Amino acid sequence: MILINSKKMVRFASILLMAFLTLGGLFALRGERNTVYASDQPSPLLQATPGPVNFVPMSDDQCLECHADEKMILPLPSGEQLSLQVDRIEYRTSVHGQKGYACVQCHTDITGFPHPEQNFQDTRDVTIYMAQACATCHEQAAEEYHTGTHSSLLEEGNKDSATCADCHGSHTIRDFGNIRTRIAAACQQCHSEIYNVYQDSVHGAALLDDFNPDVPACSDCHGNHNNSGPTQAGFHVASPEICATCHTDDTLMAKYEINTDVFDTYFADFHGSTVQIFEKTTPDQETNKPVCIDCHGVHDIKSPDNVGSTVIKQNLLTTCQRCHPDATPNFSDAWLSHYEPDLENHTIVYLVDLFYKFFIPGTLGIMGFFVVTDFWRSRIYKPKTQGGKES
Ligand code: HEC
Ligand code: HEC
Ligand code: HEC
Ligand code: HEC
Ligand code: HEC
Ligand code: HEC
Ligand code: HEC
Ligand code: HEC
Ligand code: HEC
Repeated sequence: MILINSKKMVRFASILLMAFLTLGGLFALRGERNTVYASDQPSPLLQATPGPVNFVPMSDDQCLECHADEKMILPLPSGEQLSLQVDRIEYRTSVHGQKGYACVQCHTDITGFPHPEQNFQDTRDVTIYMAQACATCHEQAAEEYHTGTHSSLLEEGNKDSATCADCHGSHTIRDFGNIRTRIAAACQQCHSEIYNVYQDSVHGAALLDDFNPDVPACSDCHGNHNNSGPTQAGFHVASPEICATCHTDDTLMAKYEINTDVFDTYFADFHGSTVQIFEKTTPDQETNKPVCIDCHGVHDIKSPDNVGSTVIKQNLLTTCQRCHPDATPNFSDAWLSHYEPDLENHTIVYLVDLFYKFFIPGTLGIMGFFVVTDFWRSRIYKPKTQGGKES
């Protein structure tokens, strides 16, 4: 009797403990998440994300009894050797490990050993297969990802395209934590050529050498998940808007003494106004009119006084000649660039402008005066001595 009762007690106590732990866990999560999201808005993750489970078909310790072994290797048909080792401490210090998530919360199909039969041909198959696991908790990120280019490339069968674990890792996932050089490093894995060019650009050098957070990392121009690029219709024509997010920001640009007229002058220019009209009427088609990147370059944008700049005076003509093959030095010299003419820039244009500003109203004014006084004299002004002598 006593034995049964104490067994019941133990069971009851453990159920209580479990309930307590689950609730406690949920509150702990809630408290922490509230620091991430505005407190009046419920966290989007909270609604979609299950908490850490307390009972798992196989505990992390059991998985690691085998998978902590560094000699554990799975040969794949491609000839690659997949290391099956998982580092316990690395996992525990990852964002998921810290939250108490169990191995089986991502590896939902593995409930024991032997594992279910898999048909992985190469390591890419493993990475791509595992992306489904992330989507169950990170619905929003997954949805965004599916509207982007990497996702459509994968669907078209390009297995080299990026999926969740490529940019985030698997057992070592951490928040990028505002360390934006990490974002560029994630892209570098596959886009190393572009990364190298970017590294020398005015934006890339500021980010990678000086950790300057004001300049664009790859994802500021291409999106975090809904990655878009030049194969997407309209990307090229709409690209000035990417630059505008920062280059029309007076406070930001004042820090670097960069002119924010660049945008207005561009659209006032024959090139920009044509592109603007074009974007409104046929946004999906290519235009031959230059957008910012046609003159400044893309990943290699330099300061206009850098010798490598496409817009420094020595190189400007070559840049114009790409579309105006017959252009001569006078051609690029005559162009007003981004400047509103003033005494310093395009002085002659400014003075001529100024001259006309006074000359035209002045001439018209004097002419008007003559016309009016003449009219007055001939029609209204009647001398007192009608028909009398005039001297
Ligand atoms: C008894 C040892 C053992 C245990 C325990 C074990 N595994 Fe494995 N695991 C293996 C072996 C061996 C392979 C090689 C492929 C195979 O035989 O299925 C493997 C392969 C894998 C793979 C590679 C892909 C696949 O599905 O085959 C994953 C992922 C994996 N294990 C995860 C886990 C997780 C998660 C746990 C705990 C829930 C776990 N394993 C427990 C031995 C084990
Ligand atoms: C946040 C989700 C997540 C958790 C939690 C997780 N894994 Fe994985 N695991 C992955 C992903 C993603 C891959 C595929 C990684 C790749 O190869 O690109 C993977 C791959 C593996 C592999 C195959 C070898 C490899 O590295 O590709 C093994 C073995 C494995 N996991 C075991 C474990 C064990 C053991 C645990 C618990 C200690 C665990 N995993 C926890 C996401 C997870
Ligand atoms: C069982 C649910 C679950 C699964 C599966 C899962 N995550 Fe998470 N993930 C979370 C929770 C919860 C957090 C912590 C969120 C927080 O701190 O606000 C998190 C945090 C993250 C973060 C850090 C984001 C941030 O802003 O703090 C990244 C990146 C991430 N997960 C990526 C992944 C990837 C990639 C996978 C698949 C390999 C994955 N997750 C699988 C639940 C999950
Ligand atoms: C091409 C690289 C790339 C791929 C692929 C990718 N991410 Fe991200 N992810 C990022 C970047 C960049 C951020 C933003 C980091 C920052 O600003 O701190 C991010 C942020 C996140 C966050 C934090 C919250 C948020 O939405 O900003 C989560 C969670 C996340 N990713 C999950 C995923 C999941 C799940 C997948 C797969 C469906 C995925 N990511 C695929 C690059 C990627
Ligand atoms: C200042 C904005 C900006 C930044 C920063 C940027 N890109 Fe781009 N990227 C663009 C534009 C605009 C295009 C389209 C060029 C065109 O229309 O010809 C492009 C094109 C691309 C392409 C496809 C075309 C090609 O050249 O192969 C890839 C891939 C790419 N970028 C990756 C990256 C990576 C990786 C980084 C970071 C190292 C990065 N980009 C940084 C704006 C940017
Ligand atoms: C696992 C490899 C991998 C990673 C990591 C990766 N990409 Fe890609 N990406 C590709 C492949 C493959 C293509 C298609 C071929 C190409 O254009 O280079 C591509 C294409 C692109 C394109 C061109 C899209 C178009 O419309 O032409 C852009 C832009 C891009 N990636 C940006 C990024 C950014 C930004 C990151 C980092 C946040 C990143 N990629 C990380 C593999 C990757
Ligand atoms: C995320 C904000 C941001 C975006 C987006 C951005 N830039 Fe910049 N850009 C900056 C900052 C900040 C600097 C100053 C960097 C420095 O001097 O260290 C800069 C510098 C420049 C310079 C050099 C100016 C000088 O006088 O030294 C040029 C040219 C330039 N950007 C063109 C562009 C073009 C073209 C685009 C669009 C394809 C673009 N930028 C997108 C923030 C941005
Ligand atoms: C037809 C070619 C052309 C186009 C199109 C063009 N630029 Fe420029 N840009 C130049 C030239 C040339 C200069 C150098 C002017 C000088 O300082 O002599 C310049 C200078 C700049 C500077 C540096 C200004 C400063 O104060 O240091 C920025 C920033 C800039 N452009 C951004 C843009 C943006 C953003 C766009 C698109 C909205 C754009 N440019 C379109 C040719 C062009
Ligand atoms: C990407 C191609 C491209 C580049 C680069 C380019 N232009 Fe143009 N430009 C055009 C097109 C197309 C027109 C015709 C615009 C229209 O019909 O509205 C044009 C028109 C002009 C005109 C008006 C007179 C005319 O010939 O129709 C001038 C002046 C001009 N560009 C100067 C320049 C200068 C200076 C540069 C170099 C700083 C330059 N362009 C670079 C494509 C370009």
